[in-house]
Amino acid sequence: MTGPDWFDAGLPHIWLPYTQMQTASPPIPAIATGGCRISLADGRELVDGIASWWTACHGYNHPHIRQAAIDQLARMPHVMFGGLVHEPALRLARRLADLLPGDLERVFFSDSGSVAVEVAIKMAMQYWLNRGQSGRTRLVAFRGGYHGDTLATMAVCDPEEGMHSLFAGILPQHFITDLPRDDHTTAALERLMETEGQNVAAILVEPLVQGAGGMLFHDPATLRRLRDIADRHGVLLILDEIFTGFGRTGTMFACQQADIVPDIVTLSKALSGGTVPLAATVARAHIFAAFLSDDPMHALMHGPTFMANPLACACANASLDLFEREPRLDQVAAIEEQMRDELEACRYLPAVRDVRVMGAIGVVELDRINDINRLKTRLVEQGVWVRPFRSIVYLTPAFTVTNAELARLTGAIRTVLAEAP
Ligand SMILES: Cc1ncc(COP(=O)(O)O)c(C=O)c1O
Repeated sequence: MTGPDWFDAGLPHIWLPYTQMQTASPPIPAIATGGCRISLADGRELVDGIASWWTACHGYNHPHIRQAAIDQLARMPHVMFGGLVHEPALRLARRLADLLPGDLERVFFSDSGSVAVEVAIKMAMQYWLNRGQSGRTRLVAFRGGYHGDTLATMAVCDPEEGMHSLFAGILPQHFITDLPRDDHTTAALERLMETEGQNVAAILVEPLVQGAGGMLFHDPATLRRLRDIADRHGVLLILDEIFTGFGRTGTMFACQQADIVPDIVTLSKALSGGTVPLAATVARAHIFAAFLSDDPMHALMHGPTFMANPLACACANASLDLFEREPRLDQVAAIEEQMRDELEACRYLPAVRDVRVMGAIGVVELDRINDINRLKTRLVEQGVWVRPFRSIVYLTPAFTVTNAELARLTGAIRTVLAEAP
């Protein structure tokens, strides 16, 4: 291995995510980030096309967020949220309630997307238990979906295409079906709800874009259908906006494009502007009301140690300041236009099956990627940080990416895909 001392000494002790450690090529040591750039230990600089798993929406090290973190660090980096509360969390909760549609107004903080979804599932199931209905133990989720890597969330990911097929038989069984995109799939979901609806606590979906499942898009009408089906069959609707929230699809939240209000929404990733881990599960008033009772067991029995971490909440408040002060959604619209123009040229390359763009998400889907490691290496050699997976190469840049940086990203993808994928 070659790298700085800390790299050679520490790497044998690290277990990397989603990585077959026996065969994978070693990771690349990074030493600094700024704007849309990642500096490597060997002196190279990469233009970042994916904003660190879709989090760094303002680019890295934005001075406003950095200053908020420094100020909060000096004052109170952490205090427990049990029995105590603090200004950064309460201000953030108030602001999220104002930004989200309808009466999504009760915010439960946690520290990762998977936990936010776990909390949403728990809320939905306990909502029914608290109302005296003990049979609603199943969820409806969708093929192509991804909601996290913990045990409860693995059970609502795509069971075959997802990363968790090895766990089939161990996980709780839910109904994983097709999104109601057309008459046929809508009728199938209606039939499922007619026969099983009384056992269902909630329908769970990533609105408009199924991200880690393959950057699969659906239209707002599909979401409206889900809201309608949930209402008619008397089940809850949970939207997982962990990827789509905070502008990624062109509106602050994807559900706004469908003009629907879910019963519960999950947020994370860009919530803190990609700086410090933070997640939230936000419930409508009627969900919260079902937990109010004389019975202490009707309370929501959940409380991550670092929930509502003040440092993370301060960063999230600073991130929301930036959405207010800077033209983020206009930037997303400009990114969308540029990606449409520049990725379109990929459509005519030999192995390309589809090119699609929504907001600041650009996707080139191939028939298959034969040698993903070679593709990753070639992209780095082009000076960009882009991480193909399955059969797609995609861009989810920071909203502050410059025209030239974005052109460099799309150009690198075109160049590399013109070689054999
Ligand atoms: C839609 C969605 N839900 C949940 C998660 C899980 O979030 P985390 O990795 O923070 O646990 C992700 C992560 O990619 C996601 O995209």
